[in-house]
Amino acid sequence: MAKLIIILVTLISILFIAMPNTHAQKLNPDGENKWFQNICNGKESVAKVHFYVQDLLGGENITVYEVARATITSNSPTMFGQVRVLDDLLTAEPDINSQEIVRVQGLITSADLKTSALAMNLNFVFTAGEYNRSTISILGRNQIDNDYRELPVVGGTGIFRMARGYAITNTYSYDAVTNYGVLEYTLYVTYVEDAANIFLANE
Ligand SMILES: *[C@@H]1O[C@H](CO)[C@@H](O)[C@H](O)[C@H]1NC(C)=O
Ligand SMILES: *[C@@H]1O[C@H](CO)[C@@H](O)[C@H](O)[C@H]1NC(C)=O
Repeated sequence: MAKLIIILVTLISILFIAMPNTHAQKLNPDGENKWFQNICNGKESVAKVHFYVQDLLGGENITVYEVARATITSNSPTMFGQVRVLDDLLTAEPDINSQEIVRVQGLITSADLKTSALAMNLNFVFTAGEYNRSTISILGRNQIDNDYRELPVVGGTGIFRMARGYAITNTYSYDAVTNYGVLEYTLYVTYVEDAANIFLANE
């Protein structure tokens, strides 16, 4: 038991020691500690964020690539075992040439033997606007043959620290010839109201 605790403490220390390298250099540990001690007194904010994902599955500007497949995948009605990685542009309007506000990066795995459903890990990275440089993460199941799909929002960084919520998504359009899909996403998120203060103070 003592050994286990030591290992856990060591692991936790490694996580904390590693933090400054994985975040922007400007994070200030003293400021972070003070902020975190008061976090439970904080109020929550809500945000509703709406955008279109430009899913380029083919063509010269492809943004979704297969990285692996299982022995069963080619014979599976649901493409079971196919793993893809993506870095898609998100826009405020359905048109691919409208303003970039976010990118979505992550892994999607066909993970249901009988129904077309994906296990998804998506990280939304804001690149402009009031949420610039903040991120929101989705982790969950996406049953793509449903018109509307619900996915869990499990966390965030920057302004979206301690985020949780859900996303509703549907296929806005799909062109089978060019293999180009536009997906509509609306995220309903709660997060710590204070987060913006410390995040912007670290600038
Ligand atoms: C690919 O991207 C380039 C640069 O943005 C653009 O000029 C071109 O039209 C795009 N190709 C297609 C097929 O959309
Ligand atoms: C968003 O943040 C990046 C990185 O710090 C910066 O280069 C860019 O100018 C910002 N964009 C806007 C619109 O604020």
